[in-house]
Amino acid sequence: MNEMTPVTDIATNAAPEKAKPALPDAQTVTEVKHWTDKLFSFKVTRPASLRFRSGEFVMIGLMNDPDPKTGKVKPLLRAYSIASPSWDEEMEFYSIKVEDGPLTSRLQHIQPGDEIILRPKPVGTLVHDALLPGKRIWFFATGTGFAPFASLLREPQTYEDYDEVIITHTCRTAGELTYGRELIESLKEDELLNEVIGEGFWKKIKYYPTTTREESPKMGRITDLMRSGEAFAELGVPPLNPESDRAMICGNLAFNLELKDLFENTYGLEEGANSKPAHFVVEKAFLD
Ligand code: A2P
Repeated sequence: MNEMTPVTDIATNAAPEKAKPALPDAQTVTEVKHWTDKLFSFKVTRPASLRFRSGEFVMIGLMNDPDPKTGKVKPLLRAYSIASPSWDEEMEFYSIKVEDGPLTSRLQHIQPGDEIILRPKPVGTLVHDALLPGKRIWFFATGTGFAPFASLLREPQTYEDYDEVIITHTCRTAGELTYGRELIESLKEDELLNEVIGEGFWKKIKYYPTTTREESPKMGRITDLMRSGEAFAELGVPPLNPESDRAMICGNLAFNLELKDLFENTYGLEEGANSKPAHFVVEKAFLD
């Protein structure tokens, strides 16, 4: 018998009964980590047939409480960027906890063994296919907008396509940076990635974390730090230009719009899409 042989119950010679999932498109939670009182990440099993591109998102959620009138239950779903890379056998997500948020007020209490709903239809614009070839890739995130970059930072193509990978992360407090910082640190010790992508691949990464409402080594919004030139000076790179730089943006709406404006009107970059690759792409970090 090899790994692919279906297991049968010797006593009855019948296939053992599978535990019936209680939810449609159910996946099982395998790990939950709480980073701050407002942030957590979790892993779930991956549907066997699900293929996605690093940087894409899927709809996930839980069943709503029964409608008091009809007794019917409906799924409550939200778009979540997949934080794990396309090759991973599990799927990871990074989420805020909103006290009165319809989904996250409940989702934050999930435990290993619980089930969530995961609709296996990945989509999104933060994919390598939507960008023209370049020398340097920039990832710009605020808050949980780090999630798609957690995927792309573990994606071999990121390092095959670019000489330099710059990730900026702006958060209100220092604690909100921890998930991203630990993930980037972990790449150094990741034996599999160092073997597959090449020993020391992580040296291509320049990490630029900033906070806006709590003291940290670097304070300020990344947009302001770019306008003043401080960010470029500290990173040791010239301002973005269409010949060498490509960028992906994932943050709150105001951040996305401000960066888009800066890219188009100051740096001369053009927005791309899956159907028409160009210099930068944008995705909203989805909030509850
Ligand atoms: P700030 O504290 O100055 O508003 P939020 O939690 O509101 O989504 O914000 C996450 C981070 O994004 C915060 O550090 C916030 O800074 C920053 N931010 C919000 N809007 C912008 C913007 N238009 N440009 C740059 N950073 C922004």
